[in-house]
Amino acid sequence: ESTEVVVIGAGPAGLTLANLLRQAGVGCVVLERQSRPYVEQRQRAGILDHRGAGVFESWGLADVVLAGMPQETKVEFRVDGEQRFLDVPTLTEGRLGRLVPQQVLVGRLLAHYVETGGDLRFEAAEVTPRGVGGPSPTVTYRDADGITHEIACSYVAGCDGHHGVSRVSVPEHALTTYSYDHGIGWLTILADAPPPRYPLMAITTHGFAAHFPRGPRASRFYLQCAPADTAADWPDERIWTQLRLRLADGDLPGGPIGEKVFVEMRSHVVDPMHYGRLFLVGDAAHIITPMGGKGMNLAVADADVLAHALRAAVRDGDEEPLAAYSATCLERVWNHQEFSRWMTEMTHEAGDETLAGPFRRRLARARFDRLFTSGPAARAFGDLMAGG
Ligand code: APR
Repeated sequence: ESTEVVVIGAGPAGLTLANLLRQAGVGCVVLERQSRPYVEQRQRAGILDHRGAGVFESWGLADVVLAGMPQETKVEFRVDGEQRFLDVPTLTEGRLGRLVPQQVLVGRLLAHYVETGGDLRFEAAEVTPRGVGGPSPTVTYRDADGITHEIACSYVAGCDGHHGVSRVSVPEHALTTYSYDHGIGWLTILADAPPPRYPLMAITTHGFAAHFPRGPRASRFYLQCAPADTAADWPDERIWTQLRLRLADGDLPGGPIGEKVFVEMRSHVVDPMHYGRLFLVGDAAHIITPMGGKGMNLAVADADVLAHALRAAVRDGDEEPLAAYSATCLERVWNHQEFSRWMTEMTHEAGDETLAGPFRRRLARARFDRLFTSGPAARAFGDLMAGG
């Protein structure tokens, strides 16, 4: 069998790309290692920034993805208990994002793709891209019945995340990887606890904490911890005690904790984001720390650039946008890496003096205060929040 594009992976990157390719009239097959329920239930990011939302609007998919999803309003910072609010509509000059939990984005894109006749194969094992350095690649995989399939294609989109097969199938010398260890740990939990009124980030001498809404009855919390900490260091009781302390809210209601995950606070970028006819999209090409909420947005932005480029190549025989794919994406990737690092540094160093010392703590406080005292500084921040 054959198709124009084989998409490996059905996370935010792969599902966005697959839907955009359908809108563009470019044929594709999506191969996903996991089962459908697994993919639908995986929880992570929660904000589609203004640019990210705009991608779906521009491809005629606003109704599919954005319907009923609330807009950003305010963000609260709590600095050693003192409340400071940032008004996002003012900051972004009206370029508002949407609060879209990842599983909602994934669920809606998946349903739309499948219901409109898209070809998506779950539980595809041993997915292997072959011959991507030459003119006629193929992708092989084994289905749930143990039968091996081979799909001939013109292009392969590696949307299979940080641990996928796509990037590692590229000869090592062909890619440069830039990595950075932020030197902190983050524990994230999902709890059946009332959401905050506004997304809330706390800067304190006890370490950073955050509280984000996940629907009407659930919350996601983040806690700065030591990089080597494990679940054994964080029994539920310590989590709630530390959250109440850092959020300066002794009455913060607790609730059953559904999931405890330690986020690896490391960033990675590969350059270039392609090899021959294989194009890397989303987490397969770059990992960004969660601060600033750009991971899912970068995946959506990459998919948008690649969908335009593949349409030009397949429909018009114009390969130039594909040749520019990596450079186009990497400009935004580095811009957002800088934003995320800038914000991570500010929110952690402004609180915890042991991280970088008292001098840097004052610097981080100055950086933070500037957001509330300087219109241009606030708008520059807002511009990046909106997606640059
Ligand atoms: N074969 C087939 N599928 C695979 C393979 C493989 N060898 N390896 C991984 N996959 C699938 C995974 O099961 C998953 O469904 O690829 C998908 C990758 O999805 P993600 O890891 O979510 O990556 P991506 O789609 O790039 O999402 C990017 O979204 O969750 C947010 O902030 C998060 O930065 C992240 C962003």
